[in-house]
Amino acid sequence: MLVRIRRDGDPQPSEITPRLLHENRRAVLKAAAAGLAAWSAPTIVDAAPATVESPVSGAARLQARPSALSTTEPLTPYKHVVGYNNFYEFGTGKDDPAARAGSLRLRPWTVAIEGEVARPRVFDIDELLRLAPLEERVYRMRCVEGWSMVIPWIGYPFAELMKRVEPTGSAKYVEFVTLADAGQMPGLRAPVLAWPYVEGLRIDEAAHALTLLTLGLYGEVLPKQNGAPVRIVVPWKYGFKSGKSLVRIRFVEKQPQTSWNLAAAHEYGFYSNVNPQVSHPRWSQATERRIGEDGFLQRKRPTLMFNGYADQVASLYAGMDLRKAF
Ligand code: MTE
Repeated sequence: MLVRIRRDGDPQPSEITPRLLHENRRAVLKAAAAGLAAWSAPTIVDAAPATVESPVSGAARLQARPSALSTTEPLTPYKHVVGYNNFYEFGTGKDDPAARAGSLRLRPWTVAIEGEVARPRVFDIDELLRLAPLEERVYRMRCVEGWSMVIPWIGYPFAELMKRVEPTGSAKYVEFVTLADAGQMPGLRAPVLAWPYVEGLRIDEAAHALTLLTLGLYGEVLPKQNGAPVRIVVPWKYGFKSGKSLVRIRFVEKQPQTSWNLAAAHEYGFYSNVNPQVSHPRWSQATERRIGEDGFLQRKRPTLMFNGYADQVASLYAGMDLRKAF
């Protein structure tokens, strides 16, 4: 794994077309993985003239190896990935996070690992960036509001972090606590949710190979509006399970109380697996709108069980009634 910090001669983020650059990088990575090309870092930035329509998060670009767990579906254009977000700490409008997350301070940043672990630890974000080899994981993401995207995340399995802290036999769940600092996050003034934003997973869900501790997207460090500097990504669950800007991760014995469940228990269950057969009281979950594809005549896509990841994750829920454990 290699983190490239921007140097003076490097192009400004605004000079790069992340999509083009990204495509180029993927091609190189694929070739390298197949033993066809020697890896050379500058290839990443050589790719692209042209302009960028959206804010780019910052200086550092990340190199990551491709993953067999990636979908080959077309990527959602970068401008939507960083311009149409839910991050209520910066407001409830879809464009609020891109407009307002500039106030988030990314250094210093630590993530405390606590609770039922043999080796509790506080990781500095730069340690987390180097903890395990970075992979690119292109995941389908489905929001409970009925839209979806395909996003090339960068990170490594959360299980890598679990190995380092050694959960004890009493660790049955993992609680993900995200930053709540009113000085940096104007949205905290509105009591939309119980802050801090808390989400949780069962321990076997957290340890699943698809669960990604995520540090970047589209070849660069995470933009602030997408949950910089570190978030979790759980692609078979509705997007709200993927907590942004993590500061504390607790291994616990009892099922954690989560912000959305506290706000409306009948709408947001603890599991929140993507399930086209179980409707949300306000939104059907049978179909979805793929962001970037919309147009007047655009047909909706059918939503897939577990967001298309059933082969990998259905066994986690064998014998459970998913209408009750929604
Ligand atoms: N994490 C925090 N801390 N605050 C939030 O409001 N929104 C969630 C999730 N994580 C949210 C959060 C929801 S509802 C979704 S759909 C995804 O983030 C959106 O992630 P994206 O903006 O990177 O696509």
